[in-house]
Amino acid sequence: MLTQRFLFLTVLSGFILTGSQAAYADSSDGERLYTKHCSVCHGSKGSGGVGIPLDLESFLNSISDEYLIKTIEHGRVGRTMPAFKKLGDENIQALVKYIRSFTNTEAVTFDPTPIKGNIEHGKALFKSKCASCHGDHGQGGKGTGVTFSRPRDLSIIPPALNNAGFLASASDEMIKHTLMTGRKNTPMNSFLKQGLSESDINDVVAYIRHFETKQVPKLRDQKLDAIIMAESPYSLEETLESLKKAVIGKNFRIIRQQTVDDGLVDKNKQNKKQIILYFCNFQFLNESLALDPRIGLFLPCRVTIVQQGDSVKVMAINPLRLSKLFNNDELDDACKNMSNLYTEIIEEATL
Ligand code: HEC
Ligand code: HEC
Repeated sequence: MLTQRFLFLTVLSGFILTGSQAAYADSSDGERLYTKHCSVCHGSKGSGGVGIPLDLESFLNSISDEYLIKTIEHGRVGRTMPAFKKLGDENIQALVKYIRSFTNTEAVTFDPTPIKGNIEHGKALFKSKCASCHGDHGQGGKGTGVTFSRPRDLSIIPPALNNAGFLASASDEMIKHTLMTGRKNTPMNSFLKQGLSESDINDVVAYIRHFETKQVPKLRDQKLDAIIMAESPYSLEETLESLKKAVIGKNFRIIRQQTVDDGLVDKNKQNKKQIILYFCNFQFLNESLALDPRIGLFLPCRVTIVQQGDSVKVMAINPLRLSKLFNNDELDDACKNMSNLYTEIIEEATL
């Protein structure tokens, strides 16, 4: 477990770094850009990992360059794939050229005309033929992909199809082509060979396209508060004491309290008016980590108390808001519990 978490965090920190890199002014070297920004997830030369493989002939011979460009630009919001628009057109072109060099296949161009189909029928087919891998609502396989939350026998995590980034990148004809031919050497097989007719496939494509009109989670639309916060009528010291009582009353153990700037400035220069209280309950910790190791990002639980002038504020990051980044319903449930817990503790301490 420890090594897995470590590995994940390594990958995640790689991801944060790559996500925030600014444009390269002087380089259009696709291989270098790929190594820097993509290989951590997609493997060296596209062999796959957390991200799906990019070196398969069956993938590269069934997509357009436009699909690659848009996918790199938009990423897949809410999934692990970051957006790389910041790299700029030239660098993205260089990346596409490098990815194309993985095989000898040619790019395909697709007719952009939308495909018409029966959405209701497509929905029924989707439920019976696709949902087991791509999720009930096309939300994709769970987890990060390597060994955490997906079945070990599924070698590649099924991508999200209700994703704004995917829908903005893929044309109807491209989706249709993927369903007709499948992707050899992946779990995604041809549905023509599995008995669907071309008209059935059009219906499924129409259903996938209709996700665009649905309110699929878009981060910017989230109305959730990022922070749970309350003003305390008591002094900082009193608030801290009642916070501790509230935490213990919920069967949590206090781990430690420290100033926010602890370890950053000399002990005697620390601001005693900004305190973080850490607490945990090992059953809660173990249950949560078993559900999804990524919950370790939110643990141990912590609440911050800050005094500014006469006003004392108690606050915590809202785990539910962060959880939305990971697209895992179970994680959402755990984070909803944490969110409620924080709210109750903060309310009790400031009542
Ligand atoms: C056994 C699991 C499985 C089933 C069943 C399945 N898929 Fe897939 N699908 C995958 C995997 C895995 C991939 C990624 C393949 C790759 O590596 O290129 C994929 C890729 C795709 C893609 C390309 C998406 C992208 O981001 O490149 C589409 C579109 C798609 N599937 C649609 C469907 C539809 C529609 C159905 C039902 C008719 C279906 N799939 C059934 C596993 C599955
Ligand atoms: C943090 C991990 C991560 C990084 C970094 C990353 N990707 Fe991805 N990428 C993914 C995942 C995961 C998916 C599948 C999306 C899903 O699961 O819904 C994906 C999907 C893709 C796809 C769509 C593949 C398909 O079958 O349709 C392309 C193309 C792609 N990434 C290219 C890149 C490129 C190029 C870079 C570097 C500029 C990059 N990715 C960086 C994780 C990553």
